[in-house]
Amino acid sequence: MREIARKLGISTSTVSRAFSKPEMVRPELCERILEMARELDYKPNPIARAMVLGQSDLIGLVVPDITNPFFPAIVRGVEDEARKHGLNLIVCNSDGHVAKEKQYLHSLHDLTVAGVIVASASRRDAYVAELAAGIPVVVMDRRLSGSLVSQVNADNYSGSKAVVDHLAGLGHRKLLYLSGPPRISTTEDRLRGFRDQCRLHNIDFNVVRAGFGIDDGYEAMKQVESKMDGTTGVVCANDLCAFGVLARLAEVGIPVPGRISVTGFDDIAFARIFSPSLTTVRQPTYEMGRRAVKAILDMRRGHAPRQPVVLPTELVVRDSTALRNISAEHSSATTL
Ligand code: RIB
Repeated sequence: MREIARKLGISTSTVSRAFSKPEMVRPELCERILEMARELDYKPNPIARAMVLGQSDLIGLVVPDITNPFFPAIVRGVEDEARKHGLNLIVCNSDGHVAKEKQYLHSLHDLTVAGVIVASASRRDAYVAELAAGIPVVVMDRRLSGSLVSQVNADNYSGSKAVVDHLAGLGHRKLLYLSGPPRISTTEDRLRGFRDQCRLHNIDFNVVRAGFGIDDGYEAMKQVESKMDGTTGVVCANDLCAFGVLARLAEVGIPVPGRISVTGFDDIAFARIFSPSLTTVRQPTYEMGRRAVKAILDMRRGHAPRQPVVLPTELVVRDSTALRNISAEHSSATTL
């Protein structure tokens, strides 16, 4: 920067302003500065620029499991919208651990990012609210209590109810629910939707704590398969869990959907190419990412966090669900 200032006979602060606030520099001088920077192959240091401006052109995104295909779809929506507004993206993976999430949130704060989007590993919001006191924070996918942050979520409750309506329409009268990890709102909202709709349809059900991974579904199915008397449908809290259930049922020779119907939640890309293709609930992942960035831009313009954004979900019926097969229910060959 000093070399540019010396060659053009101007101050370094004028050179700095040409990059940070070009509207404050005469257009012809600004062009000469940028031309000289290209000649000298000069690029402003983003960290130094952030120190000067008190805010960088970076958005921090913290997700709980980068290996779950659900989250990269969100990252895509965040990235596309951020780049439209000249912002870049730092993606952090908390592995669903609160301590790791906190550490990333503090590091992002120290980097003076323009804003933080977090799919939180826990419903506890104190540390997120504390961060929000300093920079725009949007909680996405999972809800948090507290009003200091903007929220962008999907309608998990209605999505879960739609699954039960679908299975009730197929004549199912007893279901097993494999729930997600504890203390996060998507687990709680889906379980509540499942329970409420089963009670509405007078459907008998059992609930087993599983998780959001393939192994969680596989192991949970293995634990309960001998205690499934009369159960004809397994409702899973997300797609990866449902894939684990399908793998175990295939392993023990239980036909899906001939004997047991299986559903997921998310509609990740594999859901439609799996065999059988998975009946599931489509989440508006790309749109969630986009809306989260828009909420940050809103707060950067001085607007207070708006009302939570709740985007609709959509039931997608595929080959893993079918009419309840009463004859197969009690035949010894297929009794779980
Ligand atoms: O599949 C991962 C789950 O965690 C998704 O259903 C998403 O909603 C998140 O809560």
